[in-house]
Amino acid sequence: MMVEQERECHKNYRAKARVHANVAVAKYWGKRDESLNLPLFDSVAFNVDGLITETQAHWHNDDTRDALIINGWQVPAQSMGRVERILDKIRDIKGWDKRCTLQSRNNFPLASGLASSASGSAAAAAAAAAAAGLELRESELSALARLGSGSAARSIPGGWTRWRTGHLDDGSDSFAESFAPADYWNLHVFVIQVTDSQKSVSSSECMNMCMRSPFWNVFVEESKKEADLLQQAVVQRDFASFSAGVHRNMMRLHALTMTCERPVLYFAPKSVEIIQKVLRATQAVPVCCTVDAGSNVIVICEDSACPFIKNDIIALGLPFIQTHVGNGAQIV
Ligand code: PMV
Repeated sequence: MMVEQERECHKNYRAKARVHANVAVAKYWGKRDESLNLPLFDSVAFNVDGLITETQAHWHNDDTRDALIINGWQVPAQSMGRVERILDKIRDIKGWDKRCTLQSRNNFPLASGLASSASGSAAAAAAAAAAAGLELRESELSALARLGSGSAARSIPGGWTRWRTGHLDDGSDSFAESFAPADYWNLHVFVIQVTDSQKSVSSSECMNMCMRSPFWNVFVEESKKEADLLQQAVVQRDFASFSAGVHRNMMRLHALTMTCERPVLYFAPKSVEIIQKVLRATQAVPVCCTVDAGSNVIVICEDSACPFIKNDIIALGLPFIQTHVGNGAQIV
């Protein structure tokens, strides 16, 4: 952002950010520090151009409380924890006790496995920091967004991103960076809305439950190898390795959630139907799919496969959007 613009934001303490949700291909799962959302291993993701959160931030002295309004609904004070961590950090840096009102809009359903917490926290961090007149580096903004939701760190830089675990206890070296721009690889992304209902177990809660699974240690050891493999497949535009890695990574995470003392099954019957179709198709055409902690399915394919894949998706009769890899956070 231009310095002039930033001074302007600072003057009236208002700014608006536009951020995309991101979808992980080497997924984050498990924390080494819960309050700072520090991960146990690196993750790799891409921003999704068609999944947008826009958030307007306004710092003021009027109220005693911060407020978050999502799609016109005020979030209850007891559910503000994630965003409070971001706002408290900004208050710390500024040395002020102003309150912040955040008005946010998503063009997709919340908490249904479409990374709304990622884009929501990233947009809140970008807007609130700009409205406060903070001149943060991209890595600092990514680490700030991480405080709200771990995966939000990856919605700040553009295109294909890698969130590094970091080693420091304060988390200042745990942020995401872009390793390839949005237009690096001409892939088509289909976001298929299997359900618009909210997931029953949050990612954070399920991560904690998974730590008591008998398969946890082997899951973590294997997951430590994934970011390198997926990043390399993207950099080399090697769809066969990419697709194998995306499927392996998704299945291991979902297999793990099913082994908790109280098992969690995020897939809906329709998710399984789509995954089976994609796994069959992947033998013949460059297509793969992934599912985060929810039931909605993200299908990714190369240009050559796009017409057939699109027809098959239309035939499912479910709402979907066709999009591609998107850019990072912007002040608008
Ligand atoms: O950032 P959280 O707490 O919403 O967790 C995200 C977890 C996954 O979406 C399943 C994986 C990921 O890396 O985004």
